[in-house]
Amino acid sequence: MTTTPKPVHFLLLFYVCLKTLVLAQDENQFIYNGFQGANLHLDGLAQNQPNGLLQLTNASEKQSGHAFYQLPIKFNDSLPQTLSFSTNFVFIMVPEYPVNGHGIAFTISPSTNFTGAFTTEYLGILNSTNNGLSSNHLLAIELDTSKNEQFNDIDNNHVGIDVNNLTSIDSATASYYSSREGKNKTLTLVSGNPIQVWIDYDGVENLLNVTLAPIPSPKPNRPLLTTPIDLSPILLDSMYVGFSSSTGAAATNHYILGWSFNKSGTSQNIEISKLPSLPQQRKSREKPGTAIIVSLVTLSIMLIITIIVIVCHVRRKKYEDIQEDWEQEYGTQRFSYKDLYKATKGFKSKELLGAGGFGKVYRGVIPSSKELIAVKKISHDSKQGMREFVAEIVSMGRLRHRNLVRLLGYCRRKGELLLVYDYMPNGSLDKFLFGSKQALNWVQRCQILRGVASALQYLHEEWEQVVLHRDVKASNVLLDADLNGRLGDFGLARLYDHGKNPETTNVVGTLGYLAPEFSRTGQATTSTDVYSFGVFMLEVACGRKPIETQGLPEERVLIDWVIEYWKQGAILETSDPRLRGEYLKEEMELVLKLGLFCSHPNAAVRPSMRQVVQYLDGDALFPNDILLDIASIGTLGVRNEASPKFVISFPSSILNSFHDSMSSSLLHSGR
Ligand SMILES: *[C@@H]1O[C@H](CO)[C@@H](O)[C@H](O)[C@H]1NC(C)=O
Ligand SMILES: *[C@@H]1O[C@H](CO)[C@@H](O)[C@H](O)[C@H]1NC(C)=O
Ligand SMILES: *[C@@H]1O[C@H](CO)[C@@H](O)[C@H](O)[C@H]1NC(C)=O
Ligand SMILES: *[C@@H]1O[C@H](CO)[C@@H](O)[C@H](O)[C@H]1NC(C)=O
Ligand SMILES: *[C@@H]1O[C@H](CO)[C@@H](O)[C@H](O)[C@H]1NC(C)=O
Ligand SMILES: *[C@@H]1O[C@H](CO)[C@@H](O)[C@H](O)[C@H]1NC(C)=O
Ligand SMILES: *[C@@H]1O[C@H](CO)[C@@H](O)[C@H](O)[C@H]1NC(C)=O
Ligand SMILES: *[C@@H]1O[C@H](CO)[C@@H](O)[C@H](O)[C@H]1NC(C)=O
Repeated sequence: MTTTPKPVHFLLLFYVCLKTLVLAQDENQFIYNGFQGANLHLDGLAQNQPNGLLQLTNASEKQSGHAFYQLPIKFNDSLPQTLSFSTNFVFIMVPEYPVNGHGIAFTISPSTNFTGAFTTEYLGILNSTNNGLSSNHLLAIELDTSKNEQFNDIDNNHVGIDVNNLTSIDSATASYYSSREGKNKTLTLVSGNPIQVWIDYDGVENLLNVTLAPIPSPKPNRPLLTTPIDLSPILLDSMYVGFSSSTGAAATNHYILGWSFNKSGTSQNIEISKLPSLPQQRKSREKPGTAIIVSLVTLSIMLIITIIVIVCHVRRKKYEDIQEDWEQEYGTQRFSYKDLYKATKGFKSKELLGAGGFGKVYRGVIPSSKELIAVKKISHDSKQGMREFVAEIVSMGRLRHRNLVRLLGYCRRKGELLLVYDYMPNGSLDKFLFGSKQALNWVQRCQILRGVASALQYLHEEWEQVVLHRDVKASNVLLDADLNGRLGDFGLARLYDHGKNPETTNVVGTLGYLAPEFSRTGQATTSTDVYSFGVFMLEVACGRKPIETQGLPEERVLIDWVIEYWKQGAILETSDPRLRGEYLKEEMELVLKLGLFCSHPNAAVRPSMRQVVQYLDGDALFPNDILLDIASIGTLGVRNEASPKFVISFPSSILNSFHDSMSSSLLHSGR
């Protein structure tokens, strides 16, 4: 404190000094809230430090220290009530070594001359010759921090009552009763923290109470020791009161911070706020190296543990996927997210193959097998329908046809579903038809059409269940290394057993490929797939999209446009100009007419995929007259049902089921 003293401070100081003097002169009572100017007899290591801290011992080995009130206290053994006394004090024991030595004894003794008393377990009050002699007239309350078998010590942290003899007549492990918690709480004497001790003797009742509590707890209402004892044979007319303390091979710093004594009543409580403080950082000053090293090591270990925990947590979160019990049967078809993450180099944008409305497709390499894969990432929020969907995905994985893109498996994650496919190096067909890639020649186009047709035939007729693709279109046909067409994206297909009613929910598909009756009923059938395939054939032959709007006065529906030319007897005019007329006229005509046949407005008239394959392979002759009725129906009416305007007027219940079902998220996810 560097504030300049003011007159009021001097007055206060004067008053305090006066009060101390007055109290000091009353030999029967005194109070020291800190020992500045205290009237004490000191010897050994004991010293009264400038700040009023009374140090009994330091860390010197086998030493003792005594601090006694200078004046003797008057007792009169013929008047029992005059034997009563009350005292309380605050001490701190600061450990120096792992082993502590040896403690403090509040002592009432006929003399302050302890020449000849031993240190160590004798606590500086007795020696081996006089221990136990009734001529000692000595009472000590020991705060003993080492266990001596010789004196039957109970442990190395106890309070004992010693009468002429270091073997205590009563003792207890240091503890206090907390009335707030309603239980005894253990205290560690050598803790570096201040502890208050109350010693009260009732000379009439012959009861000696010893009570402990940590600062700043109030005095507990249950003493630690309540010992019946008659002190009249011990206490002489004139006795000295004070503290003795000793160290041994192990040493502890013993301090007394404040002390109050009263022979005429209950000792006043010490004012905690006025007590002196311990010298700061003494421990680390004495052994700075060790302390710094210990704290550094502790800090490093904590830091390392924290980092490990964080890394583990981040890794776990990064690779976290969802796997439920019912998925166990799918074993090998279930990929771990970690594997997919590594295969796609962490879903790097460099590995991105394409992006649809609901998901992105990434290229990847399975590290173990070096197998190339395509991973489709679809976001989904609902758990609803997931089990059925996964079951379906897994059964799709069992489809085997050289013109189908193989589904290798799946992975589920919070908010995400990942589908793993064979990697198709040449991407999707629409890029070749409408995009930047070089145009395919007619032979390649026919090969693709045959391939896709046989794949559809397989799905419709050759597998154990009828599989509807529901979304046949150029962007769902992928090309392998040899430019073979492979039908992909089974996400939209729904399965139903032969003979059962097809489900009417989950209406999906792409505008321009939807059969007119599908627009009315929302029911997908093999015929609606054939219709889509018909549109797809025209797409491949003409190199045009099913519905074109760009640069035209009004939208042009491909089917209607081809029919127009066909009615004028100029169907070959619709062929893709990029082919530059390099095709077999018969083949081109067959493909265009078969396209019209498949996309016949009347579902009953359309051929099956088996027939389509036969026509394409030349195994059956195309029935040329079959299209005559199309000419009579004309281009209006039925055709317009497939136009976007109509589709937008879908019953809202069907539209809602788009959004409710899991499959809805697959609606626009075509590549
Ligand atoms: C303890 O105090 C004594 C005397 O006050 C001094 O000579 C000694 O060096 C001190 N020991 C330690 C370990 O500080
Ligand atoms: C002790 O008390 C008795 C009885 O009151 C009295 O006679 C005696 O003088 C007292 N002794 C001292 C030393 O005061
Ligand atoms: C203390 O007592 C011893 C004898 O036990 C004596 O030699 C010594 O002088 C005494 N010291 C004081 C200061 O009286
Ligand atoms: C024990 O202390 C007494 C009294 O101070 C003394 O006379 C005696 O010589 C001491 N005994 C030993 C063994 O030091
Ligand atoms: C000290 O007290 C204990 C326990 O009461 C006793 O066994 C021992 O003999 C006493 N010591 C002496 C020297 O009288
Ligand atoms: C000692 O403690 C008991 C309770 O254990 C109490 O009844 C008694 O009044 C106390 N005596 C003194 C002198 O504090
Ligand atoms: C608390 O300690 C006191 C004194 O040692 C003992 O008498 C009492 O039984 C203890 N109470 C509990 C609940 O342990
Ligand atoms: C001693 O006890 C008396 C009576 O209870 C009280 O007035 C006085 O303040 C006490 N003094 C000290 C120092 O405890």
